Amino acid sequence: MSNERMWQRVDEYLCDELVEHDPILEAVLTRCERAGMPAINVAPNQGKLLMLLARIQGAARILEVGTLGGYSTIWLARGLAEAGHLDTLEVDSRHAAIAEENLDQAGLRSRVQVHVGPAIDTLARLRDEHVPPYDYVFIDADKPSNPEYLRATVALSRPGTLIIVDNVIRGGGVIDTESDDPRVHGVRRMNEMIRQDTRLSATAVQTVGSKGWDGFALVRVSGD
Ligand code: SAH
Ligand code: DHB
Ligand code: MG
Repeated sequence: MSNERMWQRVDEYLCDELVEHDPILEAVLTRCERAGMPAINVAPNQGKLLMLLARIQGAARILEVGTLGGYSTIWLARGLAEAGHLDTLEVDSRHAAIAEENLDQAGLRSRVQVHVGPAIDTLARLRDEHVPPYDYVFIDADKPSNPEYLRATVALSRPGTLIIVDNVIRGGGVIDTESDDPRVHGVRRMNEMIRQDTRLSATAVQTVGSKGWDGFALVRVSGD
């Protein structure tokens, strides 16, 4: 059996054992597929990790950059503390419309706001509006902008804020310094930024599974 097939099978096993079967989330994925969206949502076991991290963090304010059809959004929102709120940022109005529909079906409309427009502009606006700091941030949009998203979300953080960045390994592409892929350089520049910023404490973990070989970075904002 190929490695990829094996990763897939193990993910199926883990999801069967540990991630509850959920008709709402399955309908969300069906709606995304019918709408012609790419299947680049997080896997169910990764979504559950995002939810558990929200709970561990006691997050009442969550910020997501990159909504797509709202699959990760729903997992994150389900981890919100009571009376919590989630803001999710999406540039593509068609994606945002599907996400709204999916959030509606999941009964989350009142707790989640989808902001349509380039994330960098929305992040600047949120800052201008002096919104309260976020407890937990998930960055999962256009990868070349990762350094800008990290900078802007740190500015919306407090000591103790947790930031997760998706897709930081890309099949090992991250170590290819000669790469002409701007996504690779986005991740590498972000890692440099983290290393140079004494307020940030971070690690990154490689993952294999139904979404191939990739990984995520976990960043904690400290006091100063
Ligand atoms: N978090 C989702 C997947 C997001 S895919 C999940 O796991 O379910 C990345 C999304 O980022 C796409 O919907 C894409 O349209 C959006 N995106 C790309 N560039 C963007 C930008 N400049 N601002 C905001 N969103 C952007
Ligand atoms: C891509 C984006 C993602 O957020 C992801 O999880 C996987 C792939 C992409 O743009 O190819
Ligand atoms: Mg992703």
